[in-house]
Amino acid sequence: MKLIHTPAEWNPLWLNHLQLNQRIGLVPTMGALHQGHVDLVENSRSKTDITVVSIFVNPTQFNNPEDFKKYPVTLDSDLEKLEKAGVDYVFLPSVDTMYPNLPSLKMDFGDLERVLEGKFRPGHFNGVGIVVSKLFHLIRPHVAFFGQKDLQQVGIIKRLVSDLSFPLQLTVVPTRREADGLAMSSRNLRLNSSERSQALILFKSLEKAKAELLSGKKWLEIVREIENDFAGVPSARLEYLQLIHPESFEHYVDFSPKEKSSICVAAYIGDIRLIDNLPIIP
Ligand code: PAF
Repeated sequence: MKLIHTPAEWNPLWLNHLQLNQRIGLVPTMGALHQGHVDLVENSRSKTDITVVSIFVNPTQFNNPEDFKKYPVTLDSDLEKLEKAGVDYVFLPSVDTMYPNLPSLKMDFGDLERVLEGKFRPGHFNGVGIVVSKLFHLIRPHVAFFGQKDLQQVGIIKRLVSDLSFPLQLTVVPTRREADGLAMSSRNLRLNSSERSQALILFKSLEKAKAELLSGKKWLEIVREIENDFAGVPSARLEYLQLIHPESFEHYVDFSPKEKSSICVAAYIGDIRLIDNLPIIP
């Protein structure tokens, strides 16, 4: 596994792989890697010839500066995991490499980002859109891999690829969960042991909401019940629980088995903001 820090190091390698007719997969990450990231790597290794993982904690996508400062950095163990997973290259750019100038460009994904994460984290998807575009331009992958846990991010990146005609395919990989159901996330590293057990309320709420929807209960009644459940968990604060269309992200006021749907949840556990989602009708 080779570490690269600049496009100047990558460009001749890229050309060489292209001349050998090899397909390149990119797994963009912000580090603090877990098994969910390893799943992305395994997908890339099965679908492409060369796997590049980028690790870059992108400052422009954090609407909350404290969250950026406290974002876990675990480079040594990340590199160990990637080596073991059979990654070919790790791209570790500096902030200056990625942002020689702070971009004056602003990306606005319209209705796709007026809801859910976009609504609660203003500017977040502008930062994601710009950094992902830069990674696509710098690495020039044939396929890029993203996790289903960030459902709205996936929708935004699909739109980005289509609007800017990036010549690449996207592959979306299912959410990897801990044995008790908690969705794996780099932010879980910041939970203390009491918060870790309280964090399970996100997944439990999704499962409960899904079961109740499918048994015919009204969505608004389910939301009220889950708000009550959250009120009983001392460190938890529900930010949103919504039944949405998984591509347009428009919310439904009630469930129809004829329409595609997913449930999305975001909540604080102590100071740590977590998200999760569950497909109902894929
Ligand atoms: O999902 C993430 O880890 C980040 O949003 C991404 C796609 C690597 C962009 O910084």
